[in-house]
Amino acid sequence: MNSIKKASNSIINSKYLIALTGAGVSSESGIPTFRGKNGLWKQYKADELATPEAFKKNPKLVWQWYSWRISIVLSAKPNPAHYSLAYLEKIGILKALITQNVDDLHERAGSKNVIKLHGDILTVKCPSCGYEHRIWKPPQIIPPKCPRCRSIMRPGVVWFGERIPPDIIDKALSEAEKADVILVIGTSGVVMPAGAIPEIVKRNGGKVIEINIERTAISPIADIFIKGKAGEVLPKIVEEINRKRGLRNV
Ligand code: OAD
Repeated sequence: MNSIKKASNSIINSKYLIALTGAGVSSESGIPTFRGKNGLWKQYKADELATPEAFKKNPKLVWQWYSWRISIVLSAKPNPAHYSLAYLEKIGILKALITQNVDDLHERAGSKNVIKLHGDILTVKCPSCGYEHRIWKPPQIIPPKCPRCRSIMRPGVVWFGERIPPDIIDKALSEAEKADVILVIGTSGVVMPAGAIPEIVKRNGGKVIEINIERTAISPIADIFIKGKAGEVLPKIVEEINRKRGLRNV
């Protein structure tokens, strides 16, 4: 049996399927990943752009970089990987989608139960008074000021050295504890705690299905590894699931 068929069988027989996604899911939409050949961390220094210290030192520089990334996200469109995951949720198979991505492509594709571990690049937050709002274009004045208290506002993302908000990580961990199958798609699996989520499913006797263009830190515990682009592999899995569901109904 090929790996697409094997994965489809495991998915269709699952009681509680969850997914963990990373930057690779959005790369076919034109959003750069972090690691790898053309990854952002090859061209930019994380400690100058994505830490609380960097923001304190040079908020304008940090905001210039985030404004550029915001404009990429706003002009990107969901790809077949995002739509396939939304479809699996719609037909009741996928129960929760945990993502490290700060873009909104899963939501735009129609996914509902999305747990955003690393925040949301389209949210701007005031670190002083807590005011936050959704943006539809990059801030015109950089750095943006809070309309309530005039403090410098920050991107609504989780930076290196910061904690994921407790309610978000608790929700992700509780979904992981319930899962008997996890789809791990387009993540290098090196950033914690996200990278440890597949291990929780495995420890509880569940299956790990990985889709990636190359092997990763997760691959050693993957029961099924499918080498390929998320936007090509996931629609094939959906097609196979639909075929099986059709056969069942005959
Ligand atoms: P990475 O850039 O570390 O990894 C992207 C993964 O996607 C790699 O394993 C690629 O092989 C894979 N990939 C690329 N294109 C793909 C495609 N079309 N189909 C399938 N796989 C593909 O991104 P993340 O694992 O998401 O955190 O990175 C985790 C975190 O590190 C990010 O959320 C960000 C970053 O620093 C913060 O900013 C806090």
